[in-house]
Amino acid sequence: TATPTPADKFSFGLWTVGWTGADPFGAATRAPLEPWDYVKQLGELGVWGITFHDNDVFQFDADEQTKRSRVTQLKEACDSAGIVIEMVTTNTFTHPVFKDGGLTSNDRGVRRFGLRKILQAVDLAAECGASTFVMWGGREGAEYDGSKNLHAAFDRYKEGLDTVASYIKERGYDLRIALEPKPNEPRGDILLPTVGHALALIAELDNGDIVGLNPETGHEQMANLNYSHQLAQALWSGKLFHLDLNGQRGLKYDQDLVFGHGDLLSAFFTVDLLENGFPGQPDAPRYTGPRHFDYKPSRTENMQGVWDSARACMSTYLLLADKARAFRADPRVTEAMDYAGVSSLQQPTLDAGESVSDFLAATDETFDVEAAADRDYGFVRLNQLAVEHLTGR
Ligand code: GCO
Ligand code: MN
Ligand code: MN
Ligand code: MN
Repeated sequence: TATPTPADKFSFGLWTVGWTGADPFGAATRAPLEPWDYVKQLGELGVWGITFHDNDVFQFDADEQTKRSRVTQLKEACDSAGIVIEMVTTNTFTHPVFKDGGLTSNDRGVRRFGLRKILQAVDLAAECGASTFVMWGGREGAEYDGSKNLHAAFDRYKEGLDTVASYIKERGYDLRIALEPKPNEPRGDILLPTVGHALALIAELDNGDIVGLNPETGHEQMANLNYSHQLAQALWSGKLFHLDLNGQRGLKYDQDLVFGHGDLLSAFFTVDLLENGFPGQPDAPRYTGPRHFDYKPSRTENMQGVWDSARACMSTYLLLADKARAFRADPRVTEAMDYAGVSSLQQPTLDAGESVSDFLAATDETFDVEAAADRDYGFVRLNQLAVEHLTGR
């Protein structure tokens, strides 16, 4: 196994290792530890950062004094473990008050209550030195199409996000918002089901410049999408602010498996994109943020399995990073990419300064349709080289 160091910028949600195994069908299978106990253990595993929801640290109904003392104790534990708090988020999904959503509940009182809770978590994020504020609208959605005026729901979503973003600016916080898409679970249908939907909403915001994405492997795969493609489009739009890496096996409930324990070949290309960037295009946007895991240690495991699974997420990432570097450095891969025309896609289709009328008038241009139709791309051979690197051949 590969051993992580803080330089690898691995981070974990407190709710990941902290998941006690309670699911809709069964009770917890592990006892909870205090947040600072998880921090201590993660520090020993070589983790760089942690993330949390407000209510991973203090209870929903905690008084001010309890909140203060628990946050202080957490920050002290982070300092002594040499761990940073890189992201903070709000829980607007557990308490029954949020059963119809936070920012988009039909009940205006709930929306005002939810917005206040979110703004308080923004203050907490700034206080903890976090650089990202994730917003996962798990309860923003519906089970029944007739239950919501969806036009108004998008208006309220925009209103809520713009309010949070403008508050961050007004306070001068060095924080960016990262929206986390998910197609369903816990709601039957969640608003902002995929990266593309979130990008489209961000484009409508007044303060969208500080709003980007936190795409999760399994969530995009639950929508039957290719995670690496979603990361690529977010990068292309300059909106890949944060990540939730994990594993998912097909179209089913949100499994939150260890990274790489779902679609391993997809995980390889995810790491390849994160570590090596777009092929042959060194000046294209790169992701430099935390390698953040949002997974659940299976409820079959005792505490040993919690730490083993956290280690597994990081080890798999590092192994794939090695494989991906070797893949890019392999002259057979360079040759196969050239053969496949990978680099030629960077060349603009029109000549510099060529107008549409010039283009349409260039009827003397010779292009052999039959030869192009006959062309072999060799994508299979290229993919097999990836598989061979991945399997260590
Ligand atoms: C899920 C989500 C959540 C969010 C987290 C951050 O399981 O559907 O991944 O874990 O990431 O709540 O807001
Ligand atoms: Mn998930
Ligand atoms: Mn997540
Ligand atoms: Mn999760």
